[in-house]
Formats: sequence, structure tokens, C-alpha cells
Amino acid sequence: MSDEAFAVYIADILVAPERQREGIGRGLTQAIQDHYPLATYHHQVLIAERGVEGFYQSLGMTPVSAFGLTAFIRTSGK
Ligand SMILES: CC(C)(COP(=O)(O)OP(=O)(O)OC[C@H]1O[C@@H](n2cnc3c(N)ncnc32)[C@H](O)[C@@H]1OP(=O)(O)O)[C@@H](O)C(=O)NCCC(=O)NCCS
Repeated sequence: MSDEAFAVYIADILVAPERQREGIGRGLTQAIQDHYPLATYHHQVLIAERGVEGFYQSLGMTPVSAFGLTAFIRTSGK
């Protein structure tokens, strides 16, 4: 999802626990990049659980805290 100008949001990337660490997550991320021009946006943003930072860092992403920023979320409660 994007504003077609500055920022793009990548919704959840999920791999079944019994199939993790087989390269599936990297493949899913590559498929997104192959089909959508992520690199044309200044901000590429996603939300992840704690403990998976190494996965996203291996894909060249940086925790928002490294920019001196924080992130906020409001949920519908559903
Ligand atoms: C995070 C997740 C998507 C990664 O998918 P995956 O198929 O297990 O990852 P891959 O096998 O493609 O791993 C790609 C690289 O990231 C690394 N990596 C994967 N999970 C990691 C973790 N938890 N911590 C550190 N590094 C990790 C792998 O070692 C691999 O590195 P390499 O190429 O140098 O060997 C998957 O573990 C998952 O669904 N986790 C639970 C749900 C979640 O938190 N999703 C994020 C919400 S957006």
C-alpha cells in the first residue's frame, strides 16, 4: 500500500513456524520487490514482531529507532 509518491507500507510477511529458515521469507520479499517498485519510494515501512530484526536487516532494512524516530499504531481492537 502506498501514497504513490513518498511512502510504501508492506503488510505482514508470515512463514509457518515449521518452514522458517528455509529461504521462504527472503523469496516472498524478493517477489514483492519484483512486482512492485519499492525502491522508488523514500520510505519502505513494515511492522514486525520483536526477535525478527535480523531477518529484515539481512534484507537491507533498518530499525526505525536508528533514525532517532519512533512509530505509533492505533488498532480497531478486532
Ligand atoms: C520473519 C520471517 C518472515 C522470516 O522468514 P524465513 O522464511 O524464516 O526467513 P529466511 O529463511 O528467508 O531467512 C532469510 C535470512 O534472514 C535470516 N533470519 C530469518 N529469521 C531470522 C531471525 N528471526 N533472526 C535473525 N535472522 C533471521 C536468515 O538466517 C537468513 O539469512 P541468510 O540469508 O544470511 O542466511 C519468519 O520467521 C516469520 O514469519 N516469523 C514470524 C512472524 C513475524 O514476526 N513476521 C513479521 C511480521 S511483518
